[in-house]
Amino acid sequence: MRVPEKVAEVLIDEETLARRVRELAAEISRDYAGKCLLIVAPLKGAFMFLADLLRHLEVPAEIDFVRLASYGAATEPSGAVRMTKDLECSVEGREVLVVEDIVDTGETLGYLIEVLQRRSPASLRVCALLDKPERRQREVEVHYRGFAIPDRFVVGYGLDFAEKYRQLPYVGILRTEG
Ligand code: PRP
Repeated sequence: MRVPEKVAEVLIDEETLARRVRELAAEISRDYAGKCLLIVAPLKGAFMFLADLLRHLEVPAEIDFVRLASYGAATEPSGAVRMTKDLECSVEGREVLVVEDIVDTGETLGYLIEVLQRRSPASLRVCALLDKPERRQREVEVHYRGFAIPDRFVVGYGLDFAEKYRQLPYVGILRTEG
């Protein structure tokens, strides 16, 4: 696919993504062998990663979605997160795996973990494709991590800039100048 003008460079190409997603799925399948997963994915960014991960999972999995939003400006998270769409199923006694596209400050994931933990799952783990450790403000444990990336604005493979570029099949760095 052509690289749009606003994308300065490809950070993680399609092949590298596909290989890592397969590795993560294999690791998760081994760890949950004999169990049934409940995957919880926050909309919208995780949809593409989730779809690819699911295709390679060898354990049965149900999926459900939440929608989370930060109060305040979209670019500078204020730290306060709220849920604008809740799960439709119960997590009580379930093996829950949160599947995220990116962990940045950790505020979104921290909030979601807190909410899910209160609902008494049998287990609760996190799988995140991308992690920006430099930006962390709230400690969160990521059990399955695809890639640690530098503190740059990334788009593609589900991630957006003003709702654009989610459809790119790779992860690219957004051009900030010009
Ligand atoms: C992104 C991403 C995470 C969150 C991470 O979602 O999907 O949920 O930000 O940021 P944090 O670690 O600083 O909390 P976003 O709010 O951009 O919504 P989207 O998934 O609909 O694009």
